[in-house]
Formats: sequence, structure tokens, C-alpha cells
Amino acid sequence: MHLLRRKSNVLASETFTMKHGGSNGRKGSNLSVFIVVFSVFLFAMFMYNEDVKSIAEFPFSSKSTKAHDQILTTITTPGPATITTFQSSDDGDMSKKEKKSKKKKKSKESDEQEGIKLPELEVARPERVVVKVPESCDLFDGAWVLDNTTHPLYKEHECEFLTEQVTCMRNGRKDDRYQKWRWQPKDCDLPRFDARLLLERLRGKRLMFVGDSLNRNQWESMVCLVQSVVPKGKKKLVKNGSLNVFTAEEYDATVEFYWAPFLVESNSDDPNKHSILDRIIMPESIEKHGRNWKGVDYLIFNTYIWWMNTPDMKVLRGSFDEGSTEYDEIERPVAYDRVMRTWAKWVDENIDPEHTSVFFSSMSPLHLKPKDWDNPDGIKCAKETMPIRDWKIYFNIGSDWSVFDVAVRVTRSLVHVPVSFLNITGLSELRKDAHTSVHTIRQGKLLTPEQKANPQTYADCIHWCLPGVPDVWNELLYTRIVSSPWRT
Ligand SMILES: *[C@@H]1O[C@H](CO)[C@@H](O)[C@H](O)[C@H]1NC(C)=O
Ligand SMILES: *[C@@H]1O[C@H](CO)[C@@H](O)[C@H](O)[C@H]1NC(C)=O
Ligand SMILES: *[C@@H]1O[C@H](CO)[C@@H](O)[C@H](O)[C@H]1NC(C)=O
Repeated sequence: MHLLRRKSNVLASETFTMKHGGSNGRKGSNLSVFIVVFSVFLFAMFMYNEDVKSIAEFPFSSKSTKAHDQILTTITTPGPATITTFQSSDDGDMSKKEKKSKKKKKSKESDEQEGIKLPELEVARPERVVVKVPESCDLFDGAWVLDNTTHPLYKEHECEFLTEQVTCMRNGRKDDRYQKWRWQPKDCDLPRFDARLLLERLRGKRLMFVGDSLNRNQWESMVCLVQSVVPKGKKKLVKNGSLNVFTAEEYDATVEFYWAPFLVESNSDDPNKHSILDRIIMPESIEKHGRNWKGVDYLIFNTYIWWMNTPDMKVLRGSFDEGSTEYDEIERPVAYDRVMRTWAKWVDENIDPEHTSVFFSSMSPLHLKPKDWDNPDGIKCAKETMPIRDWKIYFNIGSDWSVFDVAVRVTRSLVHVPVSFLNITGLSELRKDAHTSVHTIRQGKLLTPEQKANPQTYADCIHWCLPGVPDVWNELLYTRIVSSPWRT
């Protein structure tokens, strides 16, 4: 609502002054008042209709400084038709889609001249925006495009919530091109990320990432993406055991992360002790974690990296509570399948699809063997500054596709709850340039110069710098969320 009010004020005053400078010669103060009132009405009208999308994506809903770049134009045609349009001072800012919807809007407005009722303004609901994305479009099939005007989506130093693990530039990385790539799906465009639009979706709601440190990486990114539109003092981040909660107070919305690296119960569930080498899981035991997920409105799950230590997984006989220590060793895809099916059953039995949207992220790839992308001089990912160019030739960098296949199959098998599969693996495989490498921490401390000089041992080619690739995962998630119908 306050967004609407602000825009309306701008519109009214600008229209007022511009009208008087206009050449169309219809005079009288009654007319001016009429135009002001009418413009406000028109604005309310098209905030109301489906074309609201074009406004929501428009720069002036995202950054206040941008608002000054807008020129409002009022064209007074002979007779009663007054058409108000927005024009960007930089037309390149406006996508084809926006132009098209603008045209459509004009004709609608001229049809809706009669019967002005001011109270309409009060009931206008600008927040109920549904962004249109063609359902047939595969968001995950596309290409990376160098685009330093749209990316990064925020600056490293602008997000106070980033942890030292991911602030690569502050930690000494010199090249920053890795921040400037946009993901371009083959058959459609991703909508521009609008934090306010997302926060409207999250008003009074909880969004929670559940899983391992890659999902934490994505959570940190999401916090940065939304926090920029929340004023100081109206946001907070609380870490408490397995749960990290960012709150945007004005929206009564949270963006949370819950640590459960295997989703099911395991001996690796302590969020702070990560030095367990013998990782043991209880593939059929999920309730201990699951009870913390109940009632959450958006759930984004993942589990991958903790599976990758050994080809076999250790599966406990009995339970940790009973003090059992014996285990069986089971092939990774088989154990993964058992875990995924436990998870699917839990989701099916505990989630109400009327209230909760469920997502599953496919694995985030590692970049450990430069030979895989044809760089004989490489040292893990440490020397990489460009994405892999040719997808087809190099599409094998050691990701475990058997695990991927299990995830695809199981996420499609639920009976009651549709799961949206975030297929980030392939597109992220191309981004050998974007890991934290030696510009990160180890056991809580920044790498020393000696450690930095030894990437073969110390480079982290698992996690990602921020801003960076996880922002794009969130753009994909965002697209799914803001293009879905509103729940009643
Ligand atoms: C983007 O890249 C172009 C070409 O390298 C450069 O001229 C321009 O200054 C860059 N713009 C920003 C905002 O970094
Ligand atoms: C932390 O979490 C525990 C267990 O969920 C809860 O009892 C406690 O109140 C929380 N503490 C804070 C400060 O939120
Ligand atoms: C995932 O995306 C890749 C391209 O990024 C595509 O080749 C693959 O078929 C997709 N898989 C699924 C299950 O959507």
C-alpha cells in the first residue's frame, strides 16, 4: 500500500506541472483538479489489473534512486481521453514484454473512462502481483551471459549479513567478473529480481532452506537479496543451533536456514562440529528434524555434498538414542534412494499443499579436476576466471548423476504434494570460476598467506562466492514463487 501511495503522489504532482506546460490548450482549474484525480484513478486501475506486472518489474519499484530517472508523460488527446504513460529515460531499460503490456494498457484505459469512483484507490491491492513466465519454458536450459549492468544483484560490502566464508573480494580475490554473469534461459527471460515483490509474497510467512552448507550458501544469498529493501533496525538475523532466522519486521516475514546435511538423522547434525569423518545416517529417521519444518510456507530442500566423501554410505543398525554403533555400508545411490523416499513420505504426510510450496534443489557441483574442463595447468578451481564455454563437450566434471536421477525420480513420486525441482546442477557445472577457492575461511579463520599460496591443499571448490552463483539459484526460485498464483 505505501508503495502505491508514494507512486500516486509522484504521478499526481508530475502530471500537474507537466500539464500546465503542455500545448493542448484546454484550461481551467477544474480541469487540472480533474486530471490529478483522474491520473490517480488511472494509476489505481492499472495497479489493479494484470498489467501490474510491468510496473512491478519496472526499475522504480526496486531502487529509490532509479525513480528519479523516470519521466512521466501525460498526453491529452481531444475529447475526454487522457492517457498517462510511464517512460524510462533510458528506453533500453524496458523489455519488449513491458512495452507490449503498456500498449495493451492504453486501450483498456480508454475503455474505462466512465464512472470514476475514488474509493477504488483504497481497495487497490498492488501487492497481489503474479509475474507471467511461460509454463512451457525450461528455466534451467540456457546460457551464461556476461551482463555487468544487471549483475551482481547487490554489492559485497552492501550486505552486512554475509559471512567471511563467502566474501571473496574482501578476502583478497582480485578479479570480479564472476559476479557479472546472468543466466539466460533459452526460451524465455527471467523476471528481474524485485525484493519487495518477494517480500509481499512472504508477508506473515516463513521461507526455509533445509539441508547442507550449499543450501546455507543459498540462504545467505537470499538474505542479501531481500535485506536491501528493509530499513536498518527493521531486520535481524538470529542464529540458534540448527536454525538461522533472518526477519524482515515490516513484513513479518522470515528467511531461514535449518541444518540437516542428510535431511534424515545422522551423526553430523551438530551445526558446529563438522570434522566427523565417519558419517553415519539413519535413513528411515526424519521426525527429529521434520518437526522443525512443519507449518513453514516455503520449504527448499537439498542434500548432496556430505554424501561425497566415500562411495559407500554408513547406515546405522538401531538408533543413536539407544547408543547403537554398528553400521552397514551401502552403495551411495541405494542409501540416497532410501533417504529420499523417507523424505518424500514425510512431505506427503506432513505438508498441506494448500499452504506450503515445496522445492528440491539438485546437487551443487564441485570443480576439483581441471582436466575435466581441459585446463592442464589448472589447480583445482583456483586459477579459473571464466565459465566453461561449451556445455556439450565438457558436460562431465564428476557430479554423481546416479544421485541426481534418484532425486528426479523421487521428487516426482509424491502423491499429495507437488515438488518443484530446482535443476541447478548443469548450469552450475559451467561455473568453475565462481567458487570461494582460497578466498575463504578454514575452521573459522581466514586462510593465511601461506595457505593461500597452496591451493592444491586449501582451495575450496565446493562453496561459492557471494555475490555469485547462488544469487542466480535464487532468481530461479524467485521466478517459481512470484509466477505462481496467490493462495487464498
Ligand atoms: C561494463 O563493461 C563494459 C565493457 O567492459 C565497461 O565499459 C563498463 O564500464 C562496465 N560497466 C560497469 C557498470 O561496470
Ligand atoms: C533456541 O532454540 C531453542 C530450541 O529450539 C529454544 O528453546 C530457545 O528458546 C531458542 N533461543 C532463542 C534465543 O531463540
Ligand atoms: C536439468 O537441466 C539440464 C540442463 O541444465 C538438462 O540437460 C537436464 O535434462 C535437466 N534435467 C531435468 C530432470 O530437468
